Amino acid sequence: MTDLHPDIERILISEDDIQRRVAEIAAEIDRDYKDAGQVVLVGILKGAFIFTADLSRKLSVPHSVDFMSISSYGDTAESAGAVRLILDLRKPITDRHVIVVEDIVDTGHTMNYLHQTLMGRNPASLKICSLFKKNRDSLDVPLDYVGFDLPDVWVVGYGLDYADTHRTLPYIAELKKEVYS
Ligand code: PRP
Repeated sequence: MTDLHPDIERILISEDDIQRRVAEIAAEIDRDYKDAGQVVLVGILKGAFIFTADLSRKLSVPHSVDFMSISSYGDTAESAGAVRLILDLRKPITDRHVIVVEDIVDTGHTMNYLHQTLMGRNPASLKICSLFKKNRDSLDVPLDYVGFDLPDVWVVGYGLDYADTHRTLPYIAELKKEVYS
């Protein structure tokens, strides 16, 4: 086995387990959307770019891929939960079947904002797919497809970062506490 990066405490979810779960989610979406016609996957940058690419390549239903980028302010008590749109979709989603593709739902603030924003554009349907979820109770919207629950530690890999590093690790790993504290 290759040596772990010195910032990494331990691997939480292996590459094989991630790829197997992505294939299962793709199969579920294929079943649910088999008569829907063209679907729009909305990947949320940056974290979801790897999951969006893998999911898209495993899907059989006809679909296009678009992206949005969201930034959260949450550094102070007053701004906690406030999010801002950095990059919007290229095309309207009115009357389209939309699936939001996220890497992780943590506090749920990003997803609450996205759900409200996208519903306001009158899609034919809107579902949420997140590969990872932390167990928080501030999420107002249902998650339709979830890959794995994660413990409340700093996780990196498969799109998730620490200061924009470690996104390309093929597995999910716990970061050593001394790296971020
Ligand atoms: C991460 C992740 C989600 C969001 C989830 O993005 O990709 O979009 O946080 O957190 P929440 O449920 O607490 O709102 P981040 O803001 O780190 O940006 P990035 O994807 O560009 O790294």
